[in-house]
Amino acid sequence: MPPAQQRYDLVIAANRLPVDKVVSESGEESWQRSPGGLVTAMESVMRNQPGAWVGWAGGTGPAEEPFDLDGMHLHPVGLSVEEVRDFYEGFSNDTLWPIYHDVIVPASFHRDWWATYRQVNARFAEAVADVAAPGARVWIQDYQLQLVPALVRRLRPDLRIGWFNHIPFPPVELFAQLPWRGQLLEGLLGADFLGFQRQADAQNFVRACRQLLRVATKGDTVAVDDGSRRRVRASAIPISVDFKGMEDLAQQPSVVARAHELRESVGNPRVLMLGVDRLDYTKGIRHRLKAYEELLAEGKVSPPEVTFLQVATPSRERVEAYQHLRSEIEQTVGRINGDHGEIGAPAVHYLHHSYPREEMAAFFQAADVMLVTPLRDGMNLVAKEYVTCRYDLGGALVLSEFTGAWHELHQAFACNPHDIEGLKQAILRAINTPTKEKQRIMRSLRRRVSQHDVQRWAKRYLAALDAAPERPGTAS
Ligand code: ADP
Ligand code: G6P
Repeated sequence: MPPAQQRYDLVIAANRLPVDKVVSESGEESWQRSPGGLVTAMESVMRNQPGAWVGWAGGTGPAEEPFDLDGMHLHPVGLSVEEVRDFYEGFSNDTLWPIYHDVIVPASFHRDWWATYRQVNARFAEAVADVAAPGARVWIQDYQLQLVPALVRRLRPDLRIGWFNHIPFPPVELFAQLPWRGQLLEGLLGADFLGFQRQADAQNFVRACRQLLRVATKGDTVAVDDGSRRRVRASAIPISVDFKGMEDLAQQPSVVARAHELRESVGNPRVLMLGVDRLDYTKGIRHRLKAYEELLAEGKVSPPEVTFLQVATPSRERVEAYQHLRSEIEQTVGRINGDHGEIGAPAVHYLHHSYPREEMAAFFQAADVMLVTPLRDGMNLVAKEYVTCRYDLGGALVLSEFTGAWHELHQAFACNPHDIEGLKQAILRAINTPTKEKQRIMRSLRRRVSQHDVQRWAKRYLAALDAAPERPGTAS
């Protein structure tokens, strides 16, 4: 441990730092916000409390020096070109991601990807051990770092270790396909407390331990078979958004004006439908477009009266399944516009960019119907952000039953995205339900999100971590 280094009582470890280093074609370096819901949520938590954030800064090569940003202490971990390919694109996003999302696309298994996953997890564990103060709380995030809990415990048995899974945890029948299933479970059992989005995810984990490791489980706890007689608890603590922060942002006059401007720029439709997602096959973008295309063909909706805006953040662009998805979506958008658009009035407006938070809030405010149709999603913060921005009680949320968010937002217009007829009906209901009824629904959705915001989530998580059983030999 370098003696001069400052150490922290709370250490977050996530594959990504909240910012990515981008190098322009002219070689100029700058920092931009990293994509995804994990960063959105953890950033609002970490801005308000002292602590360090260990993570990858998005590029390749040696780690940058640690630095401070907006009150957060960021501690970069470097990845080589091969590690980005085998750890990030390979094992994390071409092996684990599909297995943990119902194998919507087939998973690839490569032993050298696994070797690199272990190597990178060990580097993260060392970085955590370096920056954690004695007895500190360490909060490890997501599927990219499942070996880190046990590795940190080995290096620093004095630390209190938690892990939270932002994505689903698969049923044992799917998890069992992983050739390295035992090592992954043992890696996680190095934690004192494991958090999941839904109760079903926590139960899947406990069942996997019982069936694949043959260890004793009782309720939501797993007995650890390493001689320590520890029990590890696995519970659901669903993540959320910074309700107050996002609502304040949405109320800013510049954001309200921008929302009007956006509506005007798409032709002031009676109904503006919106989709906002990372361009990921889990998000059901194809299903959504199919439903919309059929509604257009049947004459149930027609531009310019009704129009659809799809905002898709570029994501994992070197992974083959993502490349296929992108070309399929772009072809479909082209076909729909060719068949149903008019000059100056396309049926689908498609944007493949990242936007600042203010612009996102304006999109949400401008949309009459928000389409959130994932085939599988751990939570889906976009659904909660939409509700948060609708302080005017306007708008309607169409929400897939296969998102974590649906378990909290039952009053939304529910859909099964595999059922295209059902999805079409849900869209029409969201358009045609009388305004008063939609306002009533929006009020109750907002009540739920405002009372269960990300600050409450973090408090609950850290309280559960603190309440985890004392480890033998560390009780004071
Ligand atoms: P995931 O974590 O799988 O990407 P979530 O819905 O949980 O899905 O979180 C996505 C986050 O990324 C949200 O905070 C959302 O506002 C943000 N986001 C999505 N698309 C864009 C975009 N084009 N530009 C900026 N932020 C985006
Ligand atoms: C999801 C995952 C995060 C990930 C994010 C963006 O939210 O749970 O761990 O960071 O997607 O994906 P990326 O591969 O760009 O980090």
